[in-house]
Amino acid sequence: MLLHRIIYFSEIAIPDEDDLETQLNRILNSASRRNARLGVTGALIVTNKHFIQVLEGGRRQLSYLVTLIGGDTRHKNFTLAQFVPADMRIFMQWRLLCMGASEVPTHYGSRYSTSGTLEPSLITLNGFHLMFQEIADRYGMREQQPVVMPTNGGETIPPTMSAADDCGRKVLV
Ligand SMILES: Cc1cc2nc3c(=O)[nH]c(=O)nc-3n(C[C@H](O)[C@H](O)[C@H](O)COP(=O)(O)O)c2cc1C
Repeated sequence: MLLHRIIYFSEIAIPDEDDLETQLNRILNSASRRNARLGVTGALIVTNKHFIQVLEGGRRQLSYLVTLIGGDTRHKNFTLAQFVPADMRIFMQWRLLCMGASEVPTHYGSRYSTSGTLEPSLITLNGFHLMFQEIADRYGMREQQPVVMPTNGGETIPPTMSAADDCGRKVLV
């Protein structure tokens, strides 16, 4: 199986703040279960307006998730920025690391976006990459080892990911 990486962004389409927290918990619960089963790892940034997500795993598994997540009515204007082969995972031990708006450092906007704010349509591919690497470094989970992928169709957790590595930080806005 060939390791791939996708990055997409979208606009949040959840009506009010309370509901956002509930929905975010639901999303994280589903993602934690399914991503582990599919051998997929990644991170989700939730700004005041947007979702920005990176997912890493097998090509077939990621294609499936693009369709599933892309059709989710809790966001709109789903924009796939990247779907490429990858040498190694950035978020090796995270089924889905989640960063809420209050967790996103203010310097990310000026560092990674040409607009000075975290406006995803103005973040270059390199900007996304550097930003996700900074996040992984920040949480001490960046893994430099090449990944050994499951060979049985990707239905098991990669050997390097233990069951205790649940969707780590359920950091909400
Ligand atoms: C922004 C966003 C990110 C999501 N990320 C994932 C994910 O990484 N993995 C996943 O299985 N589902 C993810 N989902 C949820 C799926 O779209 C879908 O609703 C869910 O997996 C269905 O799960 P269920 O089997 O619990 O009903 C995400 C949804 C949204 C809105």
